[in-house]
Order: sequence, then structure tokens, then C-alpha cells
Amino acid sequence: MGSSTVITDFLPEHSSQAGTRIEFPQGFLWGVSTAAHQVEGGNGNNQWAAWEAAGKIRSGEVSGVACDWWNNAERDFDLARDMGLNALRLSLEWSRIEPAPGEWDQQALLRYRKMLEGLSSRGIQPIVSLHHFTHPKWFEQEGAFLSNRAGERFERFAGQVVSQLGDLCRHWVTFNEPNVFAALGYVLGEFPPGQTGNMRTALRMIDSMAICHARAYRAIHAVQADAKVGWAQNYVVFEPARRNLFLDRLSASLLNRLFNESFLAAIEKGKSAIPGNLGSKRLREAKHCCDFIGVNVYSRFHVAFSLRHASQLFSNVYVPEDVPQGDRGVEKPYGEAYPGAVSAAVERCARLGKPIYILENGVPDAKDRIRPWLIVNVIRELHRLIGEGKDVRGYFHWTLTDNFEWSEGWGLRFGLFELDASTQQRTMRPSGRLYGAIAQANGLPDQISSVFPDPTFSAFGEASPTCAVPR
Ligand code: FCB
Repeated sequence: MGSSTVITDFLPEHSSQAGTRIEFPQGFLWGVSTAAHQVEGGNGNNQWAAWEAAGKIRSGEVSGVACDWWNNAERDFDLARDMGLNALRLSLEWSRIEPAPGEWDQQALLRYRKMLEGLSSRGIQPIVSLHHFTHPKWFEQEGAFLSNRAGERFERFAGQVVSQLGDLCRHWVTFNEPNVFAALGYVLGEFPPGQTGNMRTALRMIDSMAICHARAYRAIHAVQADAKVGWAQNYVVFEPARRNLFLDRLSASLLNRLFNESFLAAIEKGKSAIPGNLGSKRLREAKHCCDFIGVNVYSRFHVAFSLRHASQLFSNVYVPEDVPQGDRGVEKPYGEAYPGAVSAAVERCARLGKPIYILENGVPDAKDRIRPWLIVNVIRELHRLIGEGKDVRGYFHWTLTDNFEWSEGWGLRFGLFELDASTQQRTMRPSGRLYGAIAQANGLPDQISSVFPDPTFSAFGEASPTCAVPR
């Protein structure tokens, strides 16, 4: 499929407007992001399988065969190559590799070796996460990252994996979104172990994960001196609902501190963002332990101080009706699709002085109403940030193929490809063609730029019908 045909699909019929060509630095990574449990299928030995079996998924669904990667990840690797992508992020399922403490499953490691070789033979650079929300049931039973043995367990796992697969991968992500993992598992009850309102435990979990990250960081460098090790930081913009109200600004800034700053502070300063947690002594070993920062960024939420929300730190967190939004979850909106969140996240993370990769960004959007607009405008933001000197080296869209979306089940469709999970058939969405054209051009060719001349929602409104026409 030639890129010019692809681009023409996005031209409004009446458009004669010339856009500005936006070009990225040579070697910029254009990728997609995935996670083992969401795509592999057949993962029965981790804490998420138990959570699914207990009927905890809002839609009542289970991950099942997912995208069947354990048997055939290569089908999706072909699609990524054909789109012109040069990078892909995947995660390793710890429960497959170490099904019991200290027992290494060579078949599982071999399967991951084949996947990484498959990427390499297609000219696709991998970024590999060691922990993306799932871990073995035995580790959960030990108390997961709150247990005294967690550091030793995670460090040993990291060392084993990198000594066996390090010849095929250089970029390692220790943890995916420690803040989301802790908030959803211990405050909001949406992830296992399903606790609610347990803020102190969540913060302790984040600090413990920072220490585990530091131990893994050192263990990886011990076996692979030129490794690049980072983590994936989820970043949410908390917008004071009424900017002129001090209490709204205070609520937003408190949430920002608890959610965005917790893990970041441990790595940036070797300190807990919230005094009184683990104490600075142990966290000191996490200071500056990263070679890059992965940024996962999706949404903005509005925050209003509210006496009626005492259990949520007096904060009413909501998504206004009139903002661009993807599809709704089973019980609530997913959040605002907000290209500006990328800039806020990059500007904050750049203070650590390390290279940045956007490791996740996307929107649940089965009909591709809004995804093309989001992609183009996020890429514009990134180009501007690079122009201002920010060291952003890659953009990984979440995700290639619709997959199992954690507590929501199969309803939220984030893929550049639509998936029929029963037949495993993939159908490219228009946004897949768009993103492929962008990757092939290493930026926004002027025709694409002209389709969305303005990042505002109203501009998106006009351009959207053209983009929604499938071929
Ligand atoms: C992120 C997760 C990822 C996926 C996207 C939609 O928080 O890291 O696995 O679920 O959200």
C-alpha cells in the first residue's frame, strides 16, 4: 500500500488548503504499545486471571485467548511492519517465566526470544516491560510489592530475563504505571486486590515499587552494561474546575501531587512525595535510577472542591460534557481526549533531564470518530516540544489491535485495527492508515496537516466525517 494513496484518504474533498510539513528528527521511533495479559491469551497463572475468574470485570468478560499472541504474535508484527512502524513495546508475563519462585520456564523464555527475533527481522525495535499490571499468583500471595521479599524477587526476575534476552533488546521498562496500579488496586478497587480508600497503602506500594525499580535498574546494568532502563509514568492533567477558586486549585494540586508526583519524586529526589511514607532513607537508593522516562498520557480531568466528596479528599473529579471524548466505559466516561496533556507531561518529566519516549497515548473509539484528530494533534504538540529542545525520542500509540481492557473487558476499543476476537480477524481502521502514513513520512506530510488545521475540538468536528469513511 503506497503512502500517497493512504494520505489521499484523509483529504477533505473540498480542501485546497496547504498545510505545513512537520518533520521529526532522523531515528525517531514510531511504535505501538501492548501488554502481555491484554494480548497473549491463556494467561491463567497471574493475579489478573484470578480477578477475572472471580467475576470482577465490569462487562463480565474474561481475557480468554485475547489477541492470540502466545500462538501468533507474528501476525500483528507483520501488520506493524506493513504500516511502516519501526518500534513496538510489549511486556513479558512474569507468571509464565517464573511459574513458581526460582523456577524458570525455558519454553516461555524461548517463545519470547522468538517474538523478539521476529521483531528484529522485521526491522522493528522492541521496548520491553517487565511488569505491566500482572504478576504470578504466588507473588500476590506473598503480599506483592508490599512484601519484604519483593525487592529480591523482582531483582532476580529482571536479572534472569535480561541475561537471557538482552542480546535482543536494549530498552527495558521496569514498571508500567506504578501510580495507576496502586490507585486502582488500593484506592478505587478496580484492580486486584480490589481495596478501596486505602490511600496510605497505595502510597506505600508506590514507594516500594520505586525501591524494586532501583534494584532492577542495577541488576539489569550488571548484566547488560549498555542497557537503557526506565519506567512508564502515567500522567493525568488535573484541571481546577474554577481557576479563580483557591479551593479548586488546592484540590487539583493535591491530586497532582498524590498521583503524578509520587513515583516521580522517588526517582527525581530519592524522597517520598508525601512525607511520612517509607521515609527518605530507603528511597534514597532510587534517586536518579533511570536512563529514560516512558510517558503514558491520555486524559485531563476537572477537579472541584466539594464537601460532598469527603471520601475522595473533598474532590469532585469529573469530565465536562462538552469536551472531546472517546467511547464510554461500562459505568463511566473514560476521560477527555486532550492533546495538551502530552505537553504537560513532557514538560514535567523533562525536568529529570533524561530522554523521553511517549510509551502510550490513544483513545477508546470503535468508530474512529476522534482518533485521527487526536493522533495528528498530539504529533503536532510533540513536534513543538522537540523544537523547544525537549528530548522526545519516540511515540508509541496505544494500541495496534483492540485488546482486553483490564477492568472494562472488551468494550473499550483502542486499536488501530479492529479485532473480531472470535475469528481473530483484524480490520484496519482509517486511523491505522493515517498513523502508518505518518510513520512512513517521519512526521506530518502537508496534506495530513491540512486536514486538521487547528487543534481545537471544533476543527475536529468538521474534519471528522471525512476521516470516518472506511475504505
Ligand atoms: C493504560 C495501560 C494500558 C491500557 C491503556 C488504555 O493505563 O497501561 O495497559 O490499558 O491504559
